[in-house]
Amino acid sequence: MTTPRHFIDLSTLSAAELHGILNDAKERKAKLKAGEATEKPLEGKVLAMIFEKASTRTRVSFDVGMRQLGGETIMLTGTEMQLGRSETIADTARVLSRYVDAIMIRTTDHARLLELAEYATVPVINALTDDTHPCQIMADILTYEEHRGSVKGKIFAWTGDGNNVLHSLLEASARFEFRVNVAVPAGSEPKQHYVDWARANGAQVLVTNSAEEAVRDADCIVTDTWVSMGQEHRARGHNVFLPYQVNEKLMSFAKPDALFMHCLPAHRGEEVTDEVIDGPNSVVFDEAENRLHAQKAILAWCLES
Ligand code: CP
Ligand code: NVA
Repeated sequence: MTTPRHFIDLSTLSAAELHGILNDAKERKAKLKAGEATEKPLEGKVLAMIFEKASTRTRVSFDVGMRQLGGETIMLTGTEMQLGRSETIADTARVLSRYVDAIMIRTTDHARLLELAEYATVPVINALTDDTHPCQIMADILTYEEHRGSVKGKIFAWTGDGNNVLHSLLEASARFEFRVNVAVPAGSEPKQHYVDWARANGAQVLVTNSAEEAVRDADCIVTDTWVSMGQEHRARGHNVFLPYQVNEKLMSFAKPDALFMHCLPAHRGEEVTDEVIDGPNSVVFDEAENRLHAQKAILAWCLES
């Protein structure tokens, strides 16, 4: 049996594959916006969506995306499944593979995603784990390129917590050839493995405690919540993160036309001020929209349609 085309991480696909998905997303979006009759390549296909954590954007955009491609979805929450009563991931993968054409999962430990992919005989898509969020970063690259052209050679600055979204941004920096400057407080660094992988694959990555240093001359400033889902136990005082808040002063160190990105949900007044997130350089709702377009291309790639 051939291995299914899983969408696990940006490091597990080649640059050519990722560029192909991005181009497909751009084409599908353009056709949809032009009101052209769009193809239904996933007619008759069913996507199972497993959520072991909350979601608004991922849940709705995958559901709508599947429908636009002619397919259907089944929403499964961990607590309603036998998975929540300790049926194994491996057995869940084997069973679901007998019913559906692809499985999307949002889970806690990255190992759960990998185990699902190991035992599933249909494609598995990473819709966020404690470690990574590759669908988000595909949407972010699509968004950046729509506004400013190719990301190649650009400087992305990340400030705040070194979390799952940052890990995928680091992987993307190697695949799409842009630089990442990371500013985090001591103790909130990204996992070193992601930094090392990006550097080993040709990316330029700076990790500093100075937000000002990271954002200087940046083309894009990215941040996210200071406390990710499931990380509440390690939440630290806001005073630790306040120097990393994206406000107008911090934005002033970046290029004048630097974009502001946030995967959402945002904690206004914490990691970003209203002035910035509602300001002229913010593209956060384009990012949210582009989850739909990027994921349609990911679904089509996984199902080879
Ligand atoms: N950005 C993102 O993944 O949002 P949700 O948690 O609402 O899916
Ligand atoms: N880092 C955040 C992203 C939410 C989409 C979290 O994991 O909660």
